[in-house]
Amino acid sequence: MSEKFLAKTFAGLEGLLKDELVALGAQQCRILNRAVQFEGGLELMYKCNYFCRTALRIFWQVSEFQFQNNNQFYEAVYKIPAERFLKSNGTLAVSATINESIFNTPLFAALLTKDAICDRFREKYDERPSVDKENPDVQFHVHISRNQAIVYLDSTGESLHKRGYKTGNHPAPINEVLAAAMIKLSGWDGKTDFIDFMCGSGTLPIEAAMAALNIPAGYYRRHFGFFSWLNFDRKLWNDTVKSAKIREDVPIDFYGSDISERFMAVARRNVSNANLRDFIRLRQSDLMDTKPRRTPATIIINPPYGERLEADDLNDLYKRIGDTLKRNYQGCTAAIISSDTEAMKHIGLRPAKKFTLFNGALECKYHVFNLW
Ligand SMILES: C[S@@+](CC[C@H](N)C(=O)[O-])C[C@H]1O[C@@H](n2cnc3c(N)ncnc32)[C@H](O)[C@@H]1O
Repeated sequence: MSEKFLAKTFAGLEGLLKDELVALGAQQCRILNRAVQFEGGLELMYKCNYFCRTALRIFWQVSEFQFQNNNQFYEAVYKIPAERFLKSNGTLAVSATINESIFNTPLFAALLTKDAICDRFREKYDERPSVDKENPDVQFHVHISRNQAIVYLDSTGESLHKRGYKTGNHPAPINEVLAAAMIKLSGWDGKTDFIDFMCGSGTLPIEAAMAALNIPAGYYRRHFGFFSWLNFDRKLWNDTVKSAKIREDVPIDFYGSDISERFMAVARRNVSNANLRDFIRLRQSDLMDTKPRRTPATIIINPPYGERLEADDLNDLYKRIGDTLKRNYQGCTAAIISSDTEAMKHIGLRPAKKFTLFNGALECKYHVFNLW
């Protein structure tokens, strides 16, 4: 049976996400703002959670209806057969977003939803689930626009950018979903060496190695939201996990370096958590002392944006990045993300491709340079 889903992502990544969903078998894909709507069977929901590198969250649509007043809203939610996925003594949480609705606050819409679901349980089973905002068995999300409501279950739980390989702390790590998208947008095909000479906690080399080795994005995660649903199909999930075609080896190397020994220790821990020590070579170094072992190679970096640096120092740092790329990386492709457009000019290279991406709320430019 075909179900409706919604995959969430960052602004600017919708097209990449759609391509991933289509490759997994999604049908009727429609690009929305920071999301892609699609259809398929429940097994597709498992696959998307496990394999999608550019999705943050996958919602399963369980109801869609029009309403004019509180009563109609309550009655429509009451009709949702929640006992199919939620135990009567289980836990739930409800979040809501509203847009030009009869409800003044999302909180009220969420409360009414919760009441309708719990009343259905009480009246049918003499027992009702309780609310657990932190760790619910089932997380409902209600999206209301004018007098139209869509009720979703959040199948993901903790956001999919939390891959499960990070234990070390870095003050400015790049989001894993954004890192995976940057790797795709750079045009790197996984056939040449990958380098990040400002690697911090190691996100970019780890994401690149995972992509090249075909390691699913969710491979290291212990939990997905749908694990706690009553209709969780353990066999279907095991089949999904087994369907991954992980490569044992690839004929390329991955390099990560950073000026900070402290951050290199964090990167080492993360690389080790991801079981990628045989693939990713880490060493502490100033970027100016780096060069590729062989060319062509792809360099992707996420330099500091200046939260802690003076503008002059930042311009100087970006000039050193540009000089190093010109001097040591002839024949390579380099890609750089930064929110500091002024500092980016000091790289002194003309980008072959330009993208606008968001690192959290921060609007960034992502430039790809051909060094030949
Ligand atoms: C924004 S962080 C990178 C975060 C990284 N992408 C991650 O996911 O953890 C920028 C990094 O550049 C490093 N850095 C600053 N100056 C450097 C230099 N001259 N050579 C090498 N690395 C440098 C910093 O130590 C910092 O870890």
